[in-house]
Amino acid sequence: MTNWSSRSWREKAIQQQPNYTDLEQLRTVEHQLKTYPPLVFAEEIRALRKQLGRVSQGQGFLLQGGDCAESFADFNAPKIRDTFKVILQMAVVLTFAGSCPVTKVARMAGQYAKPRSSDLESIDGIELPSYRGDIINGSEFTAAARQPDPQRMVQAYHHSAATLNLLRAFAQGGLADLHKVHKWNMSFVAANPLKDQYLKVAEQIQSALKFMEVMGITAETNATIHETQLFTSHEALLLPYEEALTRTDTLTGLPYDCSAHMVWIGERTRQLDHAHVEFMRGIHNPIGVKIGPTTKPDDVIQLLDALNPDNEPGRMTLITRMGAGNLADALPALVRRVKAEGRNVVWSSDPMHGNTVKAENGLKTRNFDAIHQELRQFFAVHQAEGTYPGGVHLEMTGEDVTECTGGAYQISEQDLTQRYRTQCDPRLNADQVLELAFLVADSLREARQGRG
Ligand code: PEP
Ligand code: CO
Repeated sequence: MTNWSSRSWREKAIQQQPNYTDLEQLRTVEHQLKTYPPLVFAEEIRALRKQLGRVSQGQGFLLQGGDCAESFADFNAPKIRDTFKVILQMAVVLTFAGSCPVTKVARMAGQYAKPRSSDLESIDGIELPSYRGDIINGSEFTAAARQPDPQRMVQAYHHSAATLNLLRAFAQGGLADLHKVHKWNMSFVAANPLKDQYLKVAEQIQSALKFMEVMGITAETNATIHETQLFTSHEALLLPYEEALTRTDTLTGLPYDCSAHMVWIGERTRQLDHAHVEFMRGIHNPIGVKIGPTTKPDDVIQLLDALNPDNEPGRMTLITRMGAGNLADALPALVRRVKAEGRNVVWSSDPMHGNTVKAENGLKTRNFDAIHQELRQFFAVHQAEGTYPGGVHLEMTGEDVTECTGGAYQISEQDLTQRYRTQCDPRLNADQVLELAFLVADSLREARQGRG
């Protein structure tokens, strides 16, 4: 890797960063974080990269999801547990539908930094810096809260460590038991107004589990029934933090960003000659890049050249977020070009960020049908082009929030105020996530037909 170091990004132009005023304190925090233990281990990162390599070859599926932004205030065990549960519930449906392993990657344990459309927010004639995520400043609309504070990076590190600790415990300690997860799915189906639509798949899963049990494949005899593996991810937006958690792996001598297993570059910070691409090109994690509706085939190829010059499978996940109205027009040209050039990528669909609208009461929302439509089109485009739809990327929570409209419970714009709790973008609630899983099950099955 020529001329790269974990701080070479500092020579480049950069977007979406806070203006820290106390630079002395910033340096102190950076030094402190550099001495802290890594949050994840390089060997785990390589394991994820290997799994994603298989996904890029059509032998698996990537399920990535979690909060738009985690928050320090909303940091508690039930919340972490419920999101973990709903990720597993969705994964069971997709594993069954695709007859393939599902790689689970949470937007958790580090998803604290947010890009914003404007540097300033004004309310009633008062103008303050925008909220940029709890790792940077506070969301309350006061001058003190909105002042970027380097110390928040240390807090984010500790919150991430505690979240990861609990996720690891849940993954290994019995909460991931396949039978238990399926039981939750059965209760979801039984209570759902559209249960007839979901019952068939749920019953098929039930039979498969029963069959395995009869064959002696149980939690007692087989660890995979009892345990699971959940990886972590976040947008690597705040580069002083990501740099401080970058470590040279002693086994391979290669640098890894040990703040999470997978990190991604957002739609607003993926300029080729800017800091985020510079930082990401040198770390050896699997990385994602968000791809919006105006992206040209050349842009994608240039990003792949910069970030994965050796075309290694598992390195790159292209996360398309085009909007239900744009995807069918915008995606085919990109897919064709990447295929023609033989590039190894995981194509994943983020059906959330291109479908954000403002409700009449001013709240940001997304409609379930638009989300479902973008996902269906994503599968259809890959079907038509002979490429593989490798994953989904969702903003979701295990809580019973009312942030996205629609779904079986027909959440209306008027209902949004009932339990609108997001720090940032509107998330699918647990019921909506599971509905989506059941609804895309057929598309996934079709996409996988004829694959090993
Ligand atoms: C996000 O994933 O929360 C996000 C801001 O996405 P994008 O960069 O695609 O807008
Ligand atoms: Co978001």
